[in-house]
Amino acid sequence: MQASSSAGNRPAPRPATGRLGVLTPGLGAVATTFIAGVESIRRGLSKPIGSLTQMATIRLGKRTDKRSPFIKEFVPLARLDDLVFGGWDPIPDDALTAARKAGVLQEKDLEPVADFLAAIKPMPAVFDQKYVSRLSGTNVKKGKSKRDLAEQLRQDIRDFKARHKLDRLVMVWCASTEVYIKAGPQHATIEQFEKAMDRNDEAIAPSMLYAWAAIMEGVPFANGAPNLTVDTPALLQLAIARGVPICGKDFKTGQTWMKTVIAPGLKARMLGLEGWYSTNILGNRDGEVLDDPASFKTKEESKLSVLHTILQPELYPDLYNGFSHVVRINYYPPRGDNKEGWDNIDIVGWMGYPMQIKVNFLCRDSILAAPIVLDLALFMDFAQRAGMKGIQEWLSFYFKSPMAAQGLQPEHDLFIQQTKLKNTLRHLMGEDQITHLGLEYYPS
Ligand SMILES: NC(=O)c1ccc[n+]([C@@H]2O[C@H](COP(=O)([O-])OP(=O)(O)OC[C@H]3O[C@@H](n4cnc5c(N)ncnc54)[C@H](O)[C@@H]3O)[C@@H](O)[C@H]2O)c1
Repeated sequence: MQASSSAGNRPAPRPATGRLGVLTPGLGAVATTFIAGVESIRRGLSKPIGSLTQMATIRLGKRTDKRSPFIKEFVPLARLDDLVFGGWDPIPDDALTAARKAGVLQEKDLEPVADFLAAIKPMPAVFDQKYVSRLSGTNVKKGKSKRDLAEQLRQDIRDFKARHKLDRLVMVWCASTEVYIKAGPQHATIEQFEKAMDRNDEAIAPSMLYAWAAIMEGVPFANGAPNLTVDTPALLQLAIARGVPICGKDFKTGQTWMKTVIAPGLKARMLGLEGWYSTNILGNRDGEVLDDPASFKTKEESKLSVLHTILQPELYPDLYNGFSHVVRINYYPPRGDNKEGWDNIDIVGWMGYPMQIKVNFLCRDSILAAPIVLDLALFMDFAQRAGMKGIQEWLSFYFKSPMAAQGLQPEHDLFIQQTKLKNTLRHLMGEDQITHLGLEYYPS
């Protein structure tokens, strides 16, 4: 059933003409799995499983209208055939070599797209070991200052656009998790941020230079890692001033995705929570980076924030006050990208009786992340063509630690996030939003 009125006089989004460049800082497991998958789909060898932009439908109007087109038919998104890929990485491996080292995809799936992947070579990265201590690389830019390095990234973006005759670009951070940084005065305004770049202030991490460069070039920026990156007042101001959509942080893939499915279920039934213990073993490069306590702290902050905002102990003290929440990640090389997560959930029912839920999730991290990269690239490009700028909260669906306007709690419940995403699409396309109210059955 319809609720609030439609988009009114909002101009229709500009069509997706020409080609769209998708730039990824980081050409590791997630980025190469994403690129290999898109090429495999384009060649008719795979299906885009896990991608809303490619597979989901959206109901429009009343249920009796029976209108449920595919999202990609309802919204003018770039076509997969129009995507062009590029990236930066301090490790000079081309995308084929990087994909083989990542060990996510089997040779039988890489071989048919090997020529395509081998042709994608990373541009020299802005990289500093201070922020990712477990890595070292040779394919790294040199510059007089952080500002100079960021200007080199801007030049890369312009060159890439011209070389591939692109109409538009988007950037999705798929690089390693940087050490934990709290927003400080350096991130408060764009003037302070730029001054900090000039004096090589430690609070300006490489990921922030990519984000600044993207926004300066009018390129939407999505942050797939938990780093602060674009989640600062300075870069938000810049994004709004330049009409650029931004979003983040940290792709919501395995264990946290499961948490945002189960926790709303507990709360919907008014069942209590005593504690939630989550542990993981994984053996990919991401796991190696997260073995460093400073990088893990960034991830931990991102993973811990989820339960409190869903369960709202301040509203439901009898059910959720003081529950214990522990998250562990252990680097265990034999597992490669095939993470194993265990959750032990201690819940409480009628008359205080305890119960337990155990989840053992054998997931493939990059297989879950790749369709998220695709959807973010396509939706961020669409958002810009629809005149959206600043934080795209409707894309919270894709993030463990969604960016939200200052003073607002981010929404973590996967189902509220999904409703928000679809209602935003309806709104931007001039359709009525759906509230599931079913008013037609009530007497007036
Ligand atoms: N796979 C998932 O499910 C998942 C979920 C949420 C978040 N993430 C995040 O996505 C990111 C990528 O994950 P991954 O599994 O592909 O890791 P990965 O280690 O395989 O790839 C990361 C790549 O980034 C490169 N890199 C590091 N610093 C860089 C810089 N300054 N500029 C450019 N490149 C740089 C590394 O050399 C590496 O090749 C990580 O931050 C991870 O935490 C992944």
